[in-house]
Amino acid sequence: MEVMSIPSVKANGATIPLLGLGTWDLRGRTCTRIVEHALRIGYRHIDTAEMYDNEREVGEGLRASGIKRSDVFVTTKIWPDHFAPRELERAARESLSRLRLSEVDLLLLHWPNPRIPLADTLGALGQVKREGLTRHIGVSNFTVALIEQAVALTTEPLVCDQIEYHPFLDQSKVIAACRKHDMAVVAYSPIARGKAGDDRMLARIAAAHDKTAAQVSLRFLVQQSIVVIPRTSKAERLAENAAIFDFKLSPQEMTEIAALARRDGRIIDWSYSGRPNWD
Ligand SMILES: NC(=O)c1ccc[n+]([C@@H]2O[C@H](COP(=O)([O-])OP(=O)(O)OC[C@H]3O[C@@H](n4cnc5c(N)ncnc54)[C@H](OP(=O)(O)O)[C@@H]3O)[C@@H](O)[C@H]2O)c1
Repeated sequence: MEVMSIPSVKANGATIPLLGLGTWDLRGRTCTRIVEHALRIGYRHIDTAEMYDNEREVGEGLRASGIKRSDVFVTTKIWPDHFAPRELERAARESLSRLRLSEVDLLLLHWPNPRIPLADTLGALGQVKREGLTRHIGVSNFTVALIEQAVALTTEPLVCDQIEYHPFLDQSKVIAACRKHDMAVVAYSPIARGKAGDDRMLARIAAAHDKTAAQVSLRFLVQQSIVVIPRTSKAERLAENAAIFDFKLSPQEMTEIAALARRDGRIIDWSYSGRPNWD
């Protein structure tokens, strides 16, 4: 089987493969099988979280693939209920024990939690890094204001902000804040939960490159050095979502795609996290 080679981005000392496999909602045998297959065809980055309830299966897929542990970049995330310092360390240890790994490559704060001082949570996150439970630390769903606060408070460098990003959403402000601090942007829902696959303009651009609309959505992101973590439950789509490094969108196509962004383009509802108005 031909194994593809995937470029990486560098951020505050971390080297992160530009393509990862998202695993939200993948459960049981499907999860194990998809993780194993993805690694066999060349994916080298897997994204999970304690909240996804699949860390055990992700770890099983990793071992079943036969790929060396050190060749795979594994990310997991701490749920905001566990941001009090002692809770955070316990949650990190529990994630590692479900994954059956001695360390992850990247440990993220999954969502902001306004009820616990950010300085305390970041202090604990830095501590688990120093204890060797993770090689790198970062955040997810942080706004520009929160990134600035976090960078000022953290005891260890933050290597990314994982945020919703796809052609239907403008994230230029958060991206600029990340770049200012040498943090990578990791795009979740990079094919807009499948919506990109149905878009007529993306399909037209895709046809010109002999690609699919989903591949154009992913290419739009990686061409800006944004890390993408598309999810699929279908093994045949793993190769499709990875075949995004052998073509280039023109500057005009990039501009056209960026113009798809809408004020209401967000898919993930922030309100469920109890998020107040942060900006
Ligand atoms: N940090 C956070 O708060 C956060 C929030 C949301 C997600 N995430 C992470 O980001 C990952 C990706 O985001 P996501 O799962 O929300 O959405 P996504 O990857 O944009 O979309 C997944 C959906 O698209 C479909 N799909 C996959 N490949 C396709 C293709 N080539 N053509 C057409 N449809 C395709 C999948 O269906 P099939 O299964 O049928 O292929 C699935 O329904 C998650 O799995 C998770 O790891 C993080």
